[in-house]
Amino acid sequence: MTMKLAVIGYPLGQSKSPVIYNHWIEKYGVDAVYGPLEIAPDTFESRIRSMIDEGYGGFNITIPYKEKIIPLCAELDDTARAIGAVNTVKITDGKLFGTNTDAYGFIQNLKEETGKTDFKGKAVVLGAGGAARAVVYALKQENFDEVLILNRTRERADIIARDMDAGTDEWEKRNELLADTTLLVNTTSLGMTGQPPLDIDVSALPADAVVYDIVYKPLMTDLLKDAKNKGNQIVTGIGMLLNQARPAFELWTGIAPDMEPALRDELLK
Ligand code: ATR
Repeated sequence: MTMKLAVIGYPLGQSKSPVIYNHWIEKYGVDAVYGPLEIAPDTFESRIRSMIDEGYGGFNITIPYKEKIIPLCAELDDTARAIGAVNTVKITDGKLFGTNTDAYGFIQNLKEETGKTDFKGKAVVLGAGGAARAVVYALKQENFDEVLILNRTRERADIIARDMDAGTDEWEKRNELLADTTLLVNTTSLGMTGQPPLDIDVSALPADAVVYDIVYKPLMTDLLKDAKNKGNQIVTGIGMLLNQARPAFELWTGIAPDMEPALRDELLK
């Protein structure tokens, strides 16, 4: 029987997930269909239940349902529980199993792009939204001496820091706090197409620091341009998008897809 898969969210306008999964479905000859499924908030729960009845094998979850799906899951893995959000569900015997592949996607991309597997020093994370939770969780799994969260609304940073044993400081001090930083990550929406710019001066960053922007539209954000001009290594967000999709595809199909430049290029169109 053809496996039905989807990405759910509201609104879904810009989701790149169908391009990614349909590329792999075709490439590996999997008997599956993957499509976007926009679900209005007032029908969320009933729509999920009807997906079970319709025989869906699984789905990805994007804004604004990554937390709302949790009470509907019969089981969560440790990562989803620690992050407090689910981005991938597998349905077996009518029951939802929830996981979160965002942290893996984030750190795998960092490792692939830098060629490093061992990290030291201080990581600074800008932002304290849902994306930041996955990023801080991933960084805490590595060997950084310190993970510091800076967010306009300090209270949101404090909550993540408490949950994940990280530190926080004032958003206003972001420029000076870069002086002894080894990794700077932007998880805010600032710098994204259609959003305000990220106001940061990277001149204090050490020369060997890595700058990572999880925004991929545009691929080269102003933050990354500034860092590159200064001679710092940069990591763009597109690889995180691909790397968070790989374990989801494997969970549903048993196939671990390759990373291909062609797919990466297709996503950047
Ligand atoms: P997501 O779940 O995708 O990370 P989010 O929860 O809306 O999205 O978080 C967006 C992040 O961008 C937050 O850290 C937000 O800061 P606040 O917590 O203070 O809202 C940050 N952000 C958005 N607009 C901002 C701005 N103009 N200046 C500074 N930070 C901003």
